[in-house]
Amino acid sequence: MGKHVLITRPIPDAGIALLKKKGLLVDVSERDTLMPRKELIRRLRAKKYDALLSILTDHIDESVLKAGGASLRVVANYAVGVDNIDLEAAKRHGVIVCNAAGDEISESVAEHAIALMFALAHRIVEADEYARRGHYVGWGPQLLLGTDLIGKTVGIVGVGAIGERVMRRLWDGFHIKLLYANPRPNIVAEQKYGAKRMSLRALLRQADFVSLHLPLLPSTHHLIGRKEFDVMKKTAYLVNTARGAIVDEAALIDALRKKKIAGAALDVFEHEPRIPKALLAFSNVITTPHTASATIETRQAMSRRAAENIVAALSGRKPKNRVV
Ligand code: DGY
Repeated sequence: MGKHVLITRPIPDAGIALLKKKGLLVDVSERDTLMPRKELIRRLRAKKYDALLSILTDHIDESVLKAGGASLRVVANYAVGVDNIDLEAAKRHGVIVCNAAGDEISESVAEHAIALMFALAHRIVEADEYARRGHYVGWGPQLLLGTDLIGKTVGIVGVGAIGERVMRRLWDGFHIKLLYANPRPNIVAEQKYGAKRMSLRALLRQADFVSLHLPLLPSTHHLIGRKEFDVMKKTAYLVNTARGAIVDEAALIDALRKKKIAGAALDVFEHEPRIPKALLAFSNVITTPHTASATIETRQAMSRRAAENIVAALSGRKPKNRVV
């Protein structure tokens, strides 16, 4: 009997084609919106699915895994982060969990982080809005002054595949002075990019730009809060393309109000899709709707990767991106 895969939301076709080519029977959600939890549970109960391809806004917890029953062998998350999945519950249910990490997504997120840094430094979004609103009536020596990235110090918090790529771009392209905070030393960061490892506090004290590249875990929840903003430079910018809850959003709003930092660029938010109105009101805050990995190339690659992980798991091989 053929094996069944449920995909909770339409994704680019590369992975779907691969699953079908391998003889798997694929059900893709008919709607391009979040599959309501009740529906997910109902669908999992109604048919014996062997694999679930979830997206990062699906909460894969005990009840969902239970609904998957004994047939469910693998959950392939269409994301690098797996904070939407109860990994302990998956272990209890004997369900393999995979993410969609790979070179492509790391490159895209690194590019986005760099784009946000430059957009902050050169006030690109503010300038665009200024021009669009018809305020541009003539060149001015002091019009919309930003700052250069050249000559500045960038602090990378969390140096995995993405953090390393951000460093590569900043070092190769601009010879930016790099600092990093990471539980373990990173030889590539130090030897190739001249980055200096230090405590988070020391990094926050010195960096002109702080870019976050770490997973959301109990230990990283609100890693950047009031005390951290207190030690940052008043001229520093925060860039977050990792997970919203790593930053205490209320503390960030307070820091921006009190001008404890110069601005922030955020791709992720504490309670997505909600973005606090207060944040949107700051002209020195740039927001993107969790689109750091949203390139055609990367989203196809993620689709392929998720499918490859499912195929491997269902044929008894170790999937490349196995998390548990
Ligand atoms: C991920 O893969 O975890 C990203 O947040 C998706 O954009």
